[in-house]
Amino acid sequence: MTTDLNGIELCVFDAYGTLYDFNSAVARHRQAIGAKADALTEMWRNKQIQYTWLRNSMAAYAKFWQVTGEALDHCLAAQGMTAVDVLEKLLSAYLALDPFPEVPAMLGKLQQAGKRLAILSNGNPEMLEPMVKASGLASRFEAVLSVDAVQVFKPDARVYRLVETRLGVGPEKVCFLSSNCWDAHGAAHFGFRTVWVNRAGAPDDGLPGKIVTEIKDLSQLPSLLGVS
Ligand code: LAC
Repeated sequence: MTTDLNGIELCVFDAYGTLYDFNSAVARHRQAIGAKADALTEMWRNKQIQYTWLRNSMAAYAKFWQVTGEALDHCLAAQGMTAVDVLEKLLSAYLALDPFPEVPAMLGKLQQAGKRLAILSNGNPEMLEPMVKASGLASRFEAVLSVDAVQVFKPDARVYRLVETRLGVGPEKVCFLSSNCWDAHGAAHFGFRTVWVNRAGAPDDGLPGKIVTEIKDLSQLPSLLGVS
């Protein structure tokens, strides 16, 4: 166990891509989408995140639900797909994404060991709450924090600061987990002790903020925190 993660009181998780698999939206409708499904899911996620950064730069916040829909519109057009029913199906699948397989047991172990657990996400409450409820994991989290409270997206420091203002835990006692390397760097730069969940085996981004360590999925988290 790394000593850099001693004394953690609260684990704060990113939602999309970290706890919940956004690929499951497209996977569920793979037949209706056809051969372009994989290209569509990758492009959709990239555009969605780009739009959040651009909106931050423009000081033009809109709810993540709107941004997600605008990104999907663009991607369907770019892939030459115009069927409105596909758009509606994909967007509504976003309200009930599957958690990654190791997530329920991992959260159970941490909760039993007395760790406090929360989500901090770009998602607005109207999309996060149904998803967390549908996954049966709502009772694991003491809070599902949304950027909507500060009307700006990650990696703006005002977002990460929500953890202390809402839950009263200083950044030095927080372990932040994200599969998005840029989010992990943003959180580390803010002051959280951050673990990058590098599900894709991607190279590190050259950004400010020192990440404590990386893991390939969340099954490794309990032992990293000294929980067996
Ligand atoms: C989130 C995105 C960044 O849940 O995955 O905040």
